Parts: sequence; C-alpha cells; structure tokens
Amino acid sequence: MTTTVIPVSGADPYDVVVGRGVLAELADRLGPRVRKVLVVHPPTLGARAAALREALADRFEVYLAEVPDAEDAKRVEVAAFCWQILGQTDFTRSDAVVGFGGGSTTDLAGFVAATWLRGVRLVQVPTSVAGMVDAAIGGKTGINTAEGKNLVGSFYAPAAVLVDLDLLDTLPRNELLAGFAEIVKCGFIGETEILDLVEADVDRVTDPASDEFRRVVELAIGLKARVVGEDFTDLGVREILNYGHTLGHAIEYAERYRWRHGAAISVGMVFAAELSRLAGRLSDDAVDRHRRILDSLSLPTDYPVGRWDTLLSVMRRDKKARGSVLRFIVLDAIGKPTVLTGPEDALLFAAYQDVGV
Ligand code: GLY
Repeated sequence: MTTTVIPVSGADPYDVVVGRGVLAELADRLGPRVRKVLVVHPPTLGARAAALREALADRFEVYLAEVPDAEDAKRVEVAAFCWQILGQTDFTRSDAVVGFGGGSTTDLAGFVAATWLRGVRLVQVPTSVAGMVDAAIGGKTGINTAEGKNLVGSFYAPAAVLVDLDLLDTLPRNELLAGFAEIVKCGFIGETEILDLVEADVDRVTDPASDEFRRVVELAIGLKARVVGEDFTDLGVREILNYGHTLGHAIEYAERYRWRHGAAISVGMVFAAELSRLAGRLSDDAVDRHRRILDSLSLPTDYPVGRWDTLLSVMRRDKKARGSVLRFIVLDAIGKPTVLTGPEDALLFAAYQDVGV
C-alpha cells in the first residue's frame, strides 16, 4: 500500500509519513549530512532498536540509548544519560537523534535533540497510537520535575515523523484503545468522520490492519498538523487540542499517574461535553454520543463524585489556567470547539455530578 505524506507547515516545515514499512525511509529522512545517530528507545523495543541499528549501519555510526519506560524516561537524570552518550561519542551539530517509542520516549528524545549543541536534527518514530496521532507531532518536547509534568522543555520541530503502522502489531489491545481517546478527541473537535467510522464498526476501526484504522489515524494526524501548523507555540488555536484534558490531567494527578492518559481524558471529554450542555451550547444527543462512542471503545466515562474538591484544586493549578481563571475547551456542536473562560464553580460542579458515580 502506498504511503501518505501529511505536511506540517510553520517556520520549520516537515512531513509526517504514514504507512506500512515506512521505517525503511529513516535513512533518507536523516539526510546526507548526518554521520552519527543516537536512537533513544525504551527497554521493550530493545530488539527492534538493535535491528534498526543494523539497518542503518552501512550509512551511519549508530548508538542506542535505552531509557526507562513511560514517564520514568522524562527525568533530568535520563536526559543527562543521553547527553553523556552524545558527549562521549563526539556528536556534532550535523548529527541526529531518533525518538523510537511512545510519547514519553519521543518527548525525551526531542528534548535531548533540542538541547544538544542548541539543536541537532531529530526524526520521531512513534510506536504507540497516542504517540502517532499526538505526542510525536507538533514539536512539544520536555521532561518533568518534582513539581510537575512537562515543566522543562521547548518547542522543537522534527525533520520528519515516520508513522509506521507495522509497529503496532505487538501493541497490547488496552494500550491501543487508550490511544484511541486522542483519535476520537480529534473527531469531537473537528474530524467528525472519525466518529462516524467508530460508530459504523468499532471492531474494524480498532483493527490496526484495517483501512478504517489507517483512515482515522490519518484524519487525526491531519487535524493536528493543521492546528500546530497555525499555532506552533500554543498561543491560540492549539488550545483546542486540550479538549477533555483539563479534568483529564487532574484525574491523572489524583490517580498518581496509574491511569492511562487516554482513560483520564475520556472522562474529561464527557465532563467537557456535560459542561457544554449546561452552558447551553450542546444538545443532550451530542453528550450521549460522547458516552456511546467512548463506551464502545471500553474507555471510562465516569469517576467518583467524592473526589471533586481534589480535582478542582488540581485544575486551578493547571498550567493552562491563565492566572486563577479556569479555561475549558467546550463544544458549540460536535466538531465546533470553543473556549469557556471562568465558569462558575456551581456550573462546574453540576457538570461533574453528571460524570460522578
Ligand atoms: N498534545 C497537545 C498539543 O500538542 O498541543
């Protein structure tokens, strides 16, 4: 099957290449000037990273940096470990970093590439659904500190993002479904064809081998590419990508990051839909559609009602809040996101009661 190239515009434009076997393009996407390559990967991808090194070995000097799984990768000690490899192997500004893993790996790899010698070439190769449709696209890179997530980082555009659907063959089903939360988010905020495809046949659309799966992935990437192309540094329209994320981030924090991101934003999207309805913007049917679609993907749509005070105080600290005023992405209709600034606590609580159990 052919590959699809989705361009991302901006000061440093790049391509997102989607298809089966597109990892074979990595050498060409690294470009003719690069001599050394650092592949940053989690332990679970050790064998695949070693195979990648073999495949690149005739054109490049390749080093592997095995980093911890998930959020544990996003620590300054892990970034320092990568910088040490780059220093000890004399990486120059014309060498390159490859992020090969889920969203945490690509966030870290991006941060390492952005900071080494003030920026070296970066190619992202996401291996999870959420990484493919969200984290690896748009140039957000960063690490966490003891005080919070993503507090240190930069916007740094990759030279290319390779979305190789073959890499999903071994992804556990629950991880794949969690990643689907970001895909349906793109449906709710603009690409409504995604919602139609989920409703038409949920088993088919969640089968990575199906044409429908590829279609929804491409639609979600296309939406993200357009949004970040318009607002790279997150000062305007990019905020719509946070649909469901204000409450979702608070749930992740309250659950000490034991919940998958997709599960937390699933509850967050139902909350945002209820808030939209109570603000007089969205119909009952549209809210029901949220629940139906998320339920069909086995994603959670409710959360304990007694946790509201904790969630509200965490949301007030959310870095997306401007000053102390809370901002939520809500919908005027399915596919029509807008910002709701400073809703009354009573309205928020009423929306939460509709989510709470
Ligand atoms: N994940 C939201 C963004 O990239 O802006």
